[in-house]
Amino acid sequence: MRTDPLAYLNAELDSLREQGLYRSLRILEDRQQTTNHFDGREVVNLSSNNYLGLTTHPKLIERAIAATKEFGVGSGSVRTIAGTMAIHMELEKRLADFKKVEAVVVFQSGFAANAGTVAAVLTKDDVVVSDALNHASIIDGCRLSRATIKVFPHKDAEAARRILQELPAGQRKLLITDGVFSMDGDLGALPELCALAEEFGCIMMVDDAHASGVFGKNGRGTVDHFDMHGRVDIQVGTLSKAIGSLGGYVAGSRMLIEFLYHRARPFLFSTSHPPAVAAACLAALDILEQEPGIIDRLWDNTRFFKKGLEDLGFDTGASASPITPVIAGEGSRAMKLSDRLFEEGVFAQGIAFPTVPRDKARVRTIVTATHTREELQFALDKFRTVGQELGLI
Ligand SMILES: Cc1ncc(COP(=O)(O)O)c(C=O)c1O
Repeated sequence: MRTDPLAYLNAELDSLREQGLYRSLRILEDRQQTTNHFDGREVVNLSSNNYLGLTTHPKLIERAIAATKEFGVGSGSVRTIAGTMAIHMELEKRLADFKKVEAVVVFQSGFAANAGTVAAVLTKDDVVVSDALNHASIIDGCRLSRATIKVFPHKDAEAARRILQELPAGQRKLLITDGVFSMDGDLGALPELCALAEEFGCIMMVDDAHASGVFGKNGRGTVDHFDMHGRVDIQVGTLSKAIGSLGGYVAGSRMLIEFLYHRARPFLFSTSHPPAVAAACLAALDILEQEPGIIDRLWDNTRFFKKGLEDLGFDTGASASPITPVIAGEGSRAMKLSDRLFEEGVFAQGIAFPTVPRDKARVRTIVTATHTREELQFALDKFRTVGQELGLI
């Protein structure tokens, strides 16, 4: 009998089990909304990136169904062969207007947008100067580009400056940060980095995955929030979080977008979105533009919940967004906190090393515009019970 050549992977899994870091996937049995059923239990959901509740919004569902009926369930090809449908172009035009840039290209995911873009615009002769906590898709894009990677400590623009000062003036450089950091909920040092990019002649790039639909006027992102229009060369946004559906996009100059049409490998070598996805995103943009009150509700809920956690005495880090970490220390403690909350009816995902530093394991909470005050108060009450039980407060 053939021995399994992958058997060595068991050692990795056993090691995760020993450290209390082995996770089973939680299975959602109904819709992605504020109270739902995971693994047979009704829970208040504080783990979804569905910031505005758009995953189940009737207008998005109606548009997606209508597009499916009219255009079918798939696009049938990559964008560069037969898979560019009129609705894909309509979405890109709408997004470009929304972001106040010349052009936009949509990718299959935010991950593909980041990795595909960084890998396309840089070569092995270039340097990327990157925040230490940037998202994995940026890191992978940097590695794929084969550029030299220089990492500056989180949000430390002075350290970024020291790196830039060491580089030859003629060197091509990309300076890159997340707009909102997904595990801490804090904002990147965008204004300081934009100033550095101008001083040192860098390409400036921001990944606004968690800022899209959340920060800036009508949810235009951190570039709008900090009034950095015209100072960021490459903006990445996602359609998978606040926009409620799936995808990522790059916003910038017409020249950049045309280059990505020719060189970004996920665009060239992976099939485009089904029309329903583009249609749902168009409906989401209508909502952002016509009903901005939904974003105000997100922020009201964010303030209420953050204050509640702080008043209970939890360590909530430096968050400035609807993502609020509750820091528990070592990994097994965070997982215990998450598991006990789940038993009590609150789903807040535990996050441990290597996603966050070993001693900063946490549960990560995200409130949405559609949580009710009762749901949030219920969650706070459970945090109190479990936090006291585990000696966190
Ligand atoms: C900061 C950041 N960038 C990019 C992504 C990838 O976005 P998507 O889920 O659309 O692939 C994520 C999602 O996890 C993220 O948190």
